[in-house]
Amino acid sequence: MILTDAQINQYRADGYLLIPDVFQGEALDQLCAARDRIIARPDRAWNFLETEGGPVRAYNACHWDEPTFADLVVAPECLQPAQQILGGDVYLHQFKMNPKAPFGGSSGWGWHQDYVNWRDFDGMPENRALNVAVLLDDATEVNGPLYLIPGSQHEDALGQDRANKTPGLTATEVGDDDVRRLAEAAGIVSATAKAGAVLIFDPMIVHASAPNISPWTRHTVYLTYNHVDNALTQPTRPEHIAARDATPLTPRATA
Ligand code: SIN
Ligand code: MN
Repeated sequence: MILTDAQINQYRADGYLLIPDVFQGEALDQLCAARDRIIARPDRAWNFLETEGGPVRAYNACHWDEPTFADLVVAPECLQPAQQILGGDVYLHQFKMNPKAPFGGSSGWGWHQDYVNWRDFDGMPENRALNVAVLLDDATEVNGPLYLIPGSQHEDALGQDRANKTPGLTATEVGDDDVRRLAEAAGIVSATAKAGAVLIFDPMIVHASAPNISPWTRHTVYLTYNHVDNALTQPTRPEHIAARDATPLTPRATA
């Protein structure tokens, strides 16, 4: 999937791009079937739990044990926009599927900038990465969609609140004053779309999500691509969160 100049300009200005209906029909059905096979294994070694023995907060590295997700990593719909925006060869830094369990079963994600975590915990030298999120359930206003502050990717790393945070497990948070300043200037958008949409977003954009109190689950897969010249220098987190293999990826041929 090749982005137009207008889409790339919009991404650079806003820090995100939401593209509806990228995956549909059989392709979407296969992704949802893979989602369900992963969900059926809450005891996967790489899952990150909300609390000890509690519900899953992130299914990490699903591309290791689910071939449909391995295939998604090299799908032209995901990989080509990453190569285009990052300007060259990329590899996969991180793969996760986040569930938003209904009735408040999953907690939210506080306001944060992803890259700051990758810099501090993984030694990623620069922000030459991006996230491609694939919605595997409809994300609506009521089931804990991702919130983004447009244009906030142009900020520096904002004062991070590390109080009571465990490095590598919970995203470091941006302070309230910065969130207020940015949101009052640019507003907050919620990335709502039907399953099969793709959300591409800059790892410096300030983003968050609330708990889901609706009866409907929201699963989203996040693929983080990084430029091959920007590989990790001092990763402190395990391979299922911070990949060491920076071999360039090649998009698979379209069917
Ligand atoms: C994230 O920011 O990494 C995930 C947030 C979410 O899935 O709601
Ligand atoms: Mn994030």
